[in-house]
Amino acid sequence: MAVGRGNFRHTPVMLEAVLKFLQPAPGKIIIDATLGGGGHAAAILKQLLPAGKLVGLDCDLDALQAAQSRLASFGGAFQAVKANFRDLAEIGQQLGLAAIDGLLFDLGVSSYQLDYPARVFSYRDDVFLDMRMDQTLSQTAAGLLAELSAEQLAKIFRTYGEERWARRIASLIVKYRRIRGPVARSGQLVEIIREAIPAPARRRGGHPAKRVFQALRIAVNKELDNLINGLSQGIKLLKPGGRVVVLAYHSLEDEIVKKQFREKSQGCICPPGMPVCGCGKKPLLKILTKKPFFPGEEESARNPRAKSARLRAAEKS
Ligand SMILES: C[S@@+](CC[C@H](N)C(=O)[O-])C[C@H]1O[C@@H](n2cnc3c(N)ncnc32)[C@H](O)[C@@H]1O
Repeated sequence: MAVGRGNFRHTPVMLEAVLKFLQPAPGKIIIDATLGGGGHAAAILKQLLPAGKLVGLDCDLDALQAAQSRLASFGGAFQAVKANFRDLAEIGQQLGLAAIDGLLFDLGVSSYQLDYPARVFSYRDDVFLDMRMDQTLSQTAAGLLAELSAEQLAKIFRTYGEERWARRIASLIVKYRRIRGPVARSGQLVEIIREAIPAPARRRGGHPAKRVFQALRIAVNKELDNLINGLSQGIKLLKPGGRVVVLAYHSLEDEIVKKQFREKSQGCICPPGMPVCGCGKKPLLKILTKKPFFPGEEESARNPRAKSARLRAAEKS
């Protein structure tokens, strides 16, 4: 079946663990910062009734529409908001959400976004290189490929995609655009990547374009900056005892979560040997997952998107 706007498909990842850590219960208020198709949201909402509320954010209008129709039966207990979670402080203020019970981030893209050709998060179809999660933004992947220098492109491929052949791919892109014109379609980019990677290396590690496409997606959507800002602003909205749960699919995302949790769970930072604490720093968070949780084998086999998931959770002190 062709994937189009009408059929949003996405299976929620590690649903049981998300519910266990988030602890939704009647009357609680929870923000789902990455609503997607509303899979996690539907299961959370069932446990918030009566009198609880879930506010779901997404920067992708297709996702919001899909979630709104899926969750319409929850009436006023559900509110969908088109927003980027990097603005959580402002959103919290606008919606009067200063003391919430729970916050969920299920990062990255949904299966729908990956499968719907015109959104071009995937290298499978030959279409315009868009890659925006928020279709109202102006920066596309084609734009980055047209504007950035070979050094800047190589840095993106290396840092966000851990691409070993980053420099060769970036130089070939710049050469291509000088001689033949803009690299604006996914088919052109796949061809350039194939040409840049030596044949024996091309045969290892899955599709040769996978890492570059992922890197461009992260850069176009400023995914890591959004996470740094959104996580820290969102934690401020939690009431004492409130919980934050994050599902990350990339080691760079998980590093950001781990670092923020570690820093915010630290108390006094006075040098050792001080007779009394002078810094007055109190831990803001209690970490609930010393090590990240991973999906079980059965879930990874059933839902390949779950394979790279890592879940971390913390509680506001
Ligand atoms: C993995 S999907 C969420 C799936 C959802 N948990 C479910 O069960 O259906 C991630 C969603 O987050 C959205 N998203 C990613 N970054 C975002 C951001 N900075 N602000 C708002 N939404 C974002 C994407 O558009 C996508 O729909």
